This record gives sequence, structure tokens and C-alpha cells, in this order.
Amino acid sequence: MTIMKSEETIRKITEHTYGTWKAQKGWKTPVYIKDAEGVYMYDTNDKRYLDFSSQLMCTNLGHKNKAIIEAIVKQAERLPYIAPIFAQEAMESATEALLSVVPASLSKFFFSTSGTEANEAAVMILRQYMAPKYKIISRYHSYHGATIAGLSLTGDPRRWFAERARFTMPGVCFAPDAYCYRCPFGLTYGNCSIQCAEYVDYMIKEEGNVAAVFVEPVVGTNGRIVPPPEYFPRLRQICDENDVLLVVDEVMSGWYRTGTVFAMENWNVTPDILATAKGCTNAYTPLGVTMTSKKIADYFEEEPLIQGHTYAFHPLVMSAVAPAIAEFKKLMATGHPQKVSPYLEKRLYELEDRHPCIGDARGIGHFWSLEIVKNRKTKERFNTKADKFLKPLMTDKIAAEAQKLGLYMQAWYDNLIIAPPLIITESQVDEGIEILDKALAVADQEVVHTDTPGSRSSAAFKK
Ligand SMILES: Cc1ncc(COP(=O)(O)O)c(C=O)c1O
Repeated sequence: MTIMKSEETIRKITEHTYGTWKAQKGWKTPVYIKDAEGVYMYDTNDKRYLDFSSQLMCTNLGHKNKAIIEAIVKQAERLPYIAPIFAQEAMESATEALLSVVPASLSKFFFSTSGTEANEAAVMILRQYMAPKYKIISRYHSYHGATIAGLSLTGDPRRWFAERARFTMPGVCFAPDAYCYRCPFGLTYGNCSIQCAEYVDYMIKEEGNVAAVFVEPVVGTNGRIVPPPEYFPRLRQICDENDVLLVVDEVMSGWYRTGTVFAMENWNVTPDILATAKGCTNAYTPLGVTMTSKKIADYFEEEPLIQGHTYAFHPLVMSAVAPAIAEFKKLMATGHPQKVSPYLEKRLYELEDRHPCIGDARGIGHFWSLEIVKNRKTKERFNTKADKFLKPLMTDKIAAEAQKLGLYMQAWYDNLIIAPPLIITESQVDEGIEILDKALAVADQEVVHTDTPGSRSSAAFKK
């Protein structure tokens, strides 16, 4: 049945609700979605959109996964809520399922209801455990959540607005990114001695009172920045040598997005604390999980854990975990995502060959970035960090054009987020590439042409 939504209906919604992360005048004409299935969603005019970003990089198994939906419905009928002080079946099944996939040393979990809260709990836990050391080293290209702790750890321009509102906490410093396309040291991979990691050692020693290094293993919104293979093994060493915790935010990079359950497995490095959310329930229910090492868990045998929520261990939320993990295992066992990710990579590189506005195509697994530039030679961007929230962005223009043509894709101030559900097929990848081919023309027209080819910064790590 077609349900047409009038401008009046949409006006009613946008007039009385705050749109997220925007000046409200930008919240006037959202697309009204009535359904979604597999890798597609449908609006009320029956227009179909291919989901090339898994919504907010969270529906890793796609839309309307039956097994997860059935488990949630059953739980709603049986026990929709019970206080976190009681044990219950969804808590049991989720814990067991998590234990079957997480690193063996991270076997104690704190449950909340968002990625932000998972990180917030990680901050409280690490600061209690490491007291009196309290400083946290984050990185400039990062996002860690929407509350005071999350925004304080965030390197992107959302923190600038939070700072102006005095909505940040002290004790956070920012390290240079492992960003080979724009190396902060002006070096080239292969001749850099992984300065981005070495500098963290310098920071720890110079700062004093550093309790933790807090990083996204593959940077999410801020660029799908894949670090060189030597980066995390060296960072782990630096943390150990300096008695500093390594905390990783796998809210977006987790749940097979990079080919492994967690991105850190790509480098065989285990953190002391891992925070995750999003794909853990395929985003059908809002879950945050903070996992800690045994040593940290032992510390809280005597020290009170100062974290808790009415919705901690929420049965409806938890009921999605076990079926989601079972579905991930089933899908990975078919070898389908492992076969499609190199195909996606190949097609994105071809796109880069055709479009001079793509400065760098980089990524891993089903987690890719097209960094959009005006000039490949100088790497000048169309828009900088300072433009975000304040100026029209070229990346938004490209995404809007793609949306017109039936492709949904998230965009940040200088990059497009290609992160489709793991169930996407090769022909659906082709469908997305075909639309991107047309949409990227919007930026190509304004490129200052050079003969410089696009970069493939993450490809260098495979050699
Ligand atoms: C790396 C990372 N950390 C934390 C968050 C915050 O998670 P949530 O939006 O569930 O609060 C996000 C959200 O996109 C994220 O990408």
C-alpha cells in the first residue's frame, strides 16, 4: 500500500522535534521511510534506496533480519523489562554469545544502551582503576560520543561546539593520527618509523599522569583511516612500557565491519578495555558494551563500580544479542562477505580512476572512505573541518545527488562513507557504483584537474 506523506505531516514532525547534529533550519525535508528490507529501504512514495552506509554504520546484517526480530518479539511477550539487579534469560544468552566471540582476556562486561555510554563507562572505569593518573590521550580524527566524556575525547568539530558550551571535561590531550594520506609528520609509509605511534610515547612521558590511550582501531566517521600494520603492535608496547591502558572504541569498527569480529584482530593486539555497540544487535535494539581485562575486573571486587542505569541489562535490548551473533557466524561461515569485500574494493578503485575528485580511496572489509578533494596534487579539500555545521559541503551535495538517484550514503565534511551491510551482493555493489559514478560528477566539475592519480593509502599496507 502506498502511503503518501504530505508536506504538512513532515512539517509537524520537524517543527516539534530537534533534528540531530544540525542547525534546525536543515531539518525541514527529511525523507519519510516506511519500510526496509535486506540492503534496501523504501519511502512513502515507494521510491527504493540502496543502503550504502548500513544506516549509521550499524545495521551490519541488513534490514529486517528475521531471527533477530523474532527473538525481540518473543522477549517482549515474555519479559519486556526487569530491573538490572535480577538475573534473567536474555542476560544469560547475551553473555554466553558474547563470550563465544570476544577476545578471551576481555571477559567481563558492563551493559548500557549506546556507544556513547559504553565509552563513558570505559572512562569512569579506567580513571577509577588508574587513579591518581587520569589523563587520556585521544586523536584528532575521532568521534567517541555525545555526552561530556564522549565529546571531550572527540577530535572532530563536534568538540569545538561542546567546548564553547563548556560541555567538556579536563584531562584529554590529542595525538597525531595514523593518517598516511595526510601524514601529520609529512612522512611516507615505509620511511616513517611509524612516527604517529612513537609520538604517543613522547606525549606520555612529557604529559605525566597519563592513564590511557583511547582510540578507534579503524577511524570511523572521521575517515575510515586504516593504520599501518605496525601501528597497533607498537602502541600496545608503548602503553605497556609506560603503564598506560590501551582502550579501544569499536562502536563502529566492530561486528565484522572490517572482516573480523573486532578490528583489533587484524593486528593481533588485545586492548585492556574495549567499548562497542551498534552492530552488536544489528542496531535493532540499543546496546552498549564495555569489556575489561581480568586485572581490571579483579580491581572492582573491592572498589565499587560507579556505573549503572535503569536500562542496564534491559531484557528487550539484550534479547537481540544472541541471535545477532548467531546470524553473524552463519553469514561469515558462508564466505559471502569475504568474497564481496575485495570486489567492493576493486570497484571503488575503478571509481577512483574515473573521478578526479577522489583523492584517496581507502578502507578494509566493508568499511571504506572516498576522500573528496578539489586538487589531487595539493590534496586541497573542497571543505575543511571548520566548515562542518556552518557551510554547505561538497560531500553533502554528492550524497544528495546519490539520494535522488536511489542511493543512501552518509557523508562527512571531506569524505563519503561506503559501509554497506555485509549481506550486499556483487550486483548490488555494481548498482551502487553506477549511481556513485553519476553523483560524483557534481564534484568532478569543480576539480582543478591535474595528472596526479588518486591515492590508495591503505593498499600500501598489503605489499
Ligand atoms: C566510534 C564511535 N564511538 C562512539 C559512538 C557513539 O555511539 P552512539 O551514537 O550509539 O552513542 C559512535 C557513533 O557513531 C562511534 O562511531
